[in-house]
Amino acid sequence: MIKRLDVKFVLTLIITSVVPIVASLYLVTEAVQTSLGVGLNRDIAQSLSRSVAVYKDYIEAIKSGHDGFMFRLADSARLEEACNAQDEAHIKTILRSLIRTGQIKEISVELGSGPVSIQYPFDDSQFRSVTRNATLKNPFCRSVEVVFGVDRNITANFKQAAQSTETYEALYRAPRDYLTQRVIMIYGVFLGLIVIISVWQGVFWTRRLTRRLHVLNLATRNVAKGDLDVRVDPGGEDEVAELIVSFNNMVDEIESTRARIQYLQKISTWQEIARRLAHEIKNPLTPIRLAAQQLKNKYKPCEDNSDAAFRRLLDQSVDIIEEEVHTLKRLVTDFSSFAKLPQISPEPMDVGEFLRDCESSLEIVAQQQDLSLLFQFPQPGLVVSIDSMMMKRVVDNLIRNASEAMINADVTNPSVVVRVEELSKTQEVAIRFEDNGPGIMPEHHPSLFEPYFTTKEDGTGLGLAISKKIVLEHNGVIWIDDEQQPGACFVVQLPLANRQKK
Ligand SMILES: Nc1ncnc2c1ncn2[C@@H]1O[C@H](COP(=O)(O)OP(=O)(O)OP(=O)(O)O)[C@@H](O)[C@H]1O
Ligand SMILES: [Mg+2]
Repeated sequence: MIKRLDVKFVLTLIITSVVPIVASLYLVTEAVQTSLGVGLNRDIAQSLSRSVAVYKDYIEAIKSGHDGFMFRLADSARLEEACNAQDEAHIKTILRSLIRTGQIKEISVELGSGPVSIQYPFDDSQFRSVTRNATLKNPFCRSVEVVFGVDRNITANFKQAAQSTETYEALYRAPRDYLTQRVIMIYGVFLGLIVIISVWQGVFWTRRLTRRLHVLNLATRNVAKGDLDVRVDPGGEDEVAELIVSFNNMVDEIESTRARIQYLQKISTWQEIARRLAHEIKNPLTPIRLAAQQLKNKYKPCEDNSDAAFRRLLDQSVDIIEEEVHTLKRLVTDFSSFAKLPQISPEPMDVGEFLRDCESSLEIVAQQQDLSLLFQFPQPGLVVSIDSMMMKRVVDNLIRNASEAMINADVTNPSVVVRVEELSKTQEVAIRFEDNGPGIMPEHHPSLFEPYFTTKEDGTGLGLAISKKIVLEHNGVIWIDDEQQPGACFVVQLPLANRQKK
């Protein structure tokens, strides 16, 4: 199912990317063809050619202006006269008067005695120098050299215009389909790369997602088959991870609920056995005791005291019968009380208040057994929904057990500390019973809450079983904290009332 989901994701991704690609390729083809139709036409080609021709003419005009100037210089009778007179100042005046065109950097006349020149300030970055020479027939002055300035923009613009015109004409003459194909090819390659990258990304993320869903699916099937040990790694912090965390919490919940139900079922079976046993044992006890007493009362001893040994035996036997009957009666009472455990009827109660009640009722027990019993009361406001009578039985059992264990082990200064911890993460309260007795042997841990498990000579082994039943019925848990050293530590964990589990 997940495999199919994987394929569906990838197919959807491809379809959703292919549709816009095809549409955009169609639109681009149309757009390219329309713009080629608008942009490449005869009128523009002709206008461009004309503008190049205009530039050419303009440059030619500049050149002929230079030619004209050179001709006037060579032909000037006044210049010849001044040269003959070798009058430098006069030559310069004449040269200045001859200048009619702009952009002249320098004019230099070669006299026998050396050059005579006039110069003008000139911006080399804007003007390019063009040097022209003319030969004079004068014996004193043979040649003249002129440096013209030509605006650099004019030649640059001309070259650019010629180049653009050439490119445009090549495009104009090229077949339209060829151009369209080139544009679309470039666009297609670019688009293809983007699509490959995005599909690859999509597949990568989809795989990541579906892989976790696949694992979750397998885990769900295992849980359905009854395997409650499965847990899935959330593998991130997204919604799927949240789903997996919820799944794990749910399995935790199912597991503890199943354990709770199984335990309660087991206890109820044992209760039934206890009820029958109590019933069967209870009935013959009184007749046995009465019969034994009658035997003792009715027996008439011999006057010569010859039956002294028999009387002793009779007295001893009747005592043993009475003692055993007494023990069996106590057992019957315990069994009956276990069999008839009442249903709990919980009500909201402050934990501190409840523990204060327990303290006052256990005070005498503690005094009798020389036990230091210390209750550390929590802040008011921790409310649990409990049947206080039944829960007191749990506290009583735990403290009695601790006290008995410490008496049996001859512990000096036996003490029990009752502490309360708020477990805000699970919205629970933990009541800890810590003693400084001999502790519990690790091999006894698994059997401790089983009915009839006891290490005491006169114990019934029902105290912890009853306590666990009561705690489970309150939706709580009871467990042993191994890390508490020395001594034993029993923890009763109960859900806080009117608070939501996080
Ligand atoms: N605080 C403790 N320290 C050491 N051992 C303990 C402690 N609490 C319980 N145990 C052990 O757990 C066993 C079972 O306790 P549980 O209360 O069920 O029965 P019991 O005390 O033996 O009999 P009963 O409760 O009828 O007197 C005890 O026999 C004892 O070995
Ligand atoms: Mg006990």
